Amino acid sequence: MPEPDVYERVMELAKRRGFIWPSAEIYGGVAGLVDYGPLGARMKRRIEEIWRSFYVLREGFHEIECPTVGVEPVYVASGHVKGFSDKMVQCPRCEEYLRADHVAAAHGVPNPAALSAEALSGALKELPCTACGEELGQVKVFDFNLMFNTWIGPGSQRKGYLRPETAQGIFTDFPRLLRFYRDKLPFGTVQVGKSFRNEISPRQGMIRLREFTQAEAEIFVHPEGKRHPGFARYAEYQVPLLGCCAQDEGKEEPVRVAMKDAVEGGLVANEYVGYYIALTHEILVSIGVDPARLRFRQHLTTERAHYAADCWDAEILSGRFGWVELVGIADRTDYDLKAHSAVSGVALTAYIPLEVPRMEKRKRIIPDMKALGPKFRGRAKEVADALVKADPGPGGVEIDVAGEKISIPASLYQVREEEVEVRGEEVMPHVIEPSYGIDRMCYAVLEHSYGEDMVEGEVRRVLRLPAAVAPVQAGVFPLVSRDGLDRVAAEIASTLTAGGIFTEFDESGAIGRRYRRQDEIGTPYAVTVDYQTLDDGTVTIRERDSMAQARVKKDALVATLRGLICGDIAFSSLGP
Ligand code: GAP
Repeated sequence: MPEPDVYERVMELAKRRGFIWPSAEIYGGVAGLVDYGPLGARMKRRIEEIWRSFYVLREGFHEIECPTVGVEPVYVASGHVKGFSDKMVQCPRCEEYLRADHVAAAHGVPNPAALSAEALSGALKELPCTACGEELGQVKVFDFNLMFNTWIGPGSQRKGYLRPETAQGIFTDFPRLLRFYRDKLPFGTVQVGKSFRNEISPRQGMIRLREFTQAEAEIFVHPEGKRHPGFARYAEYQVPLLGCCAQDEGKEEPVRVAMKDAVEGGLVANEYVGYYIALTHEILVSIGVDPARLRFRQHLTTERAHYAADCWDAEILSGRFGWVELVGIADRTDYDLKAHSAVSGVALTAYIPLEVPRMEKRKRIIPDMKALGPKFRGRAKEVADALVKADPGPGGVEIDVAGEKISIPASLYQVREEEVEVRGEEVMPHVIEPSYGIDRMCYAVLEHSYGEDMVEGEVRRVLRLPAAVAPVQAGVFPLVSRDGLDRVAAEIASTLTAGGIFTEFDESGAIGRRYRRQDEIGTPYAVTVDYQTLDDGTVTIRERDSMAQARVKKDALVATLRGLICGDIAFSSLGP
């Protein structure tokens, strides 16, 4: 089991070695905001690049970049203005603002996120405040909207919000994306960028931030086409799944299931959701999440959004925080496009040609211009154009002309019945959304890769990061800084850097200390130049995890390290 205080040790190392720092620390820092130091920023970029290698390179989903500020109607349509809030309570004694469901959860109230404000208020009455420990008493629980708001332009012109998720930009670009993808379904689009949520009391380091990075994919599919064309890739792939029925039965342990069986057995709603669960498992393990501390938990019916057909969270086990969600994978149906279509008035549908055209009887309105002219005068043509597009009702129709609703009685038009050939239909695509929190992934990787062992009577702190994620890939050390060893080592360091290997040259202190410094930041390989190098042109490579060493020709170093880093060469194959 992970140790509870591993968080302290990981964060101490992360701060000291330049991974994560409190933001604006010289002014006392701000809860929910962090800075990535030099090594953290590089590790984060590497994780984002691995994510892109799956979604952009392999899946072929193009990446777009939208502003972080959005106009109000976007978030009215998405439901964030009305419903993106957490239940908040203020302690009457210490005046701290707290998330009501978190206080309830801390005192063992079951499933508090599903409780109403009144029910939460009742549940909190006799509980102590999590900040000061005094009894909360009769406190009011109210909704606090998590969006940061602002004004766009001077003079309070347009209300705007900092985006609470990257997804909305993809939805509002749907018509252009559809054209870009040549009007065909399915297609996917991704976005990686900052999102903002004014979290009530973020006290969980990188887990709950007020500004964080998301990597989201929105995959637009035909509503009746949820068989993934590439499903075979993951049909036999086994993933630890904890379904909602198992949770209802009080189970906490996931069951490893081949994705084909999970979908065929109805545990996972469809192949698309199954495919992205498996792909997410592959990504998380490849960046260094421990597979033994990773599970996929299905949302309970009480926590799942009403419109979602299925929803799973990838969760990791943390020593401090328990199970933490890193990724949400949902079948959002047509909720988002429908909502944006209703508010913007733009049809967000795709025209899909039918495989076999069909004949259909249709009623068509023929406006009576002789009657419309005197009645509507200058607007008669506009009215007629709107009438032609309307469906005839029994006693007349209601049309919309420049935002005005007008009732037209049946006496102002004729109805003609015709048989038409239907070659295609407009469909509103459904959206499959895998949504990743990059900062939580970074923390998970740090915690899961952190280890301590005893080496030569001293504690060795080590980050067992995958080579593809490690911010420094090779340390280069001269055994001593004289006799030309330092010059050769410096040359090797620049050759490795020129060869695309991120290298750190270090000549200070005992060699053991230098190894420890690199172990602590997760550098997978250390190259040492010694006196033998001057004789035969070989250097030693030390592997971080096994601490084993092998001698290789320095001229072959770039190729050897590249092979080791990308996994094409096993260290054991290098010989002693
Ligand atoms: N578009 C769907 C969406 O945003 P979400 O579950 O709210 O879904 C997706 O967020 C992911 O973003 C989460 O799984 C989590 O990793 C990350 N995330 C959400 N809120 C966060 C916060 N306050 N701090 C850090 N990461 C957060």
